[in-house]
Amino acid sequence: MKLYEADDKMIELIRDNYSVLQGLNAFGISLGFGDKTVREVCERQGVDCYTFLVVVNFIINGSQPTQQDARISVGTLMTYLRASHKYFLDCQLPNIRAKLDEALSAENKLTALIMRIYDEYAQAIRQHMKYEEKTLFPYVEALMRGEPKNDYNVEIFSKHHGETTSKLLELKSIIIKYLPDNGLTSNRLISTLYDIYNNEEWLNNHSEVEDNIFIPAIRVLEEKTKNEDLSARLTNIIGQGGDAVSEREKEIIRCLVQGMTNKEIAGQLFISVNTVITHRRNIARKLQIHSLAGLTIYAIANNIIDSAWMPQS
Ligand SMILES: [Fe+2]
Ligand SMILES: [Fe+2]
Repeated sequence: MKLYEADDKMIELIRDNYSVLQGLNAFGISLGFGDKTVREVCERQGVDCYTFLVVVNFIINGSQPTQQDARISVGTLMTYLRASHKYFLDCQLPNIRAKLDEALSAENKLTALIMRIYDEYAQAIRQHMKYEEKTLFPYVEALMRGEPKNDYNVEIFSKHHGETTSKLLELKSIIIKYLPDNGLTSNRLISTLYDIYNNEEWLNNHSEVEDNIFIPAIRVLEEKTKNEDLSARLTNIIGQGGDAVSEREKEIIRCLVQGMTNKEIAGQLFISVNTVITHRRNIARKLQIHSLAGLTIYAIANNIIDSAWMPQS
């Protein structure tokens, strides 16, 4: 098993694996690259070389990509998947339909039924791909802009993604097992069957790239966006809180993070317990912090207490 690297010649990669040709096209790599290496071709055509190699090595050798690999470009993968959908919907499906229609005899009673199975299959695939384009891809684009959504995530997509191509299996077996061979259409039909088999393999590859590379890459992006969002909110709270909290409230915070009760604070600051409660309510409202741990982070970040001081758990 050869794992292709950036310094290998692109032509060698194609020569060994002609099935990658459509993949090249989907990545936006045009032919005519002479003896250039994979890296040179990718650089020249503005394709992320690392992501290209991960996909190609997976398709050719089944080489499993590392999970949590932050070097994979989600944008590059999406370009590839979109172009693959287009190739499949606009080119493959209509071409095979035309060939099948031509190969089947009009007099055969099964012809209309077979065409119906094919059309149902094509429709199921079309819906599957349209869903990805209308729901998943815009979600991923929003994540890339740092705008996570609360009502959708990659696990929702992943749960329903592993759909079978059972209609295609049914179609092949009906043609192979039940179609009466009258000798005239046989060659065309065999050629169409090859196309259907290739098509199935192509579709499996496509789905596997989504399951094994795209979905894990989205998970990494989701995690990154979630962390950035949390840190932005914390910075916001710290920034806003600095001005808003009065000196008296800072004293209350200092007491609270040291674990003092309302009664102890009231005694220390010579105020009533009710006043302490009012201060606490105001602090929570101003800072939008309601836990002792959050208040401690706030106090350290704003030098209300010494960072060397940590509360007893
Ligand atoms: Fe897809
Ligand atoms: Fe898919």
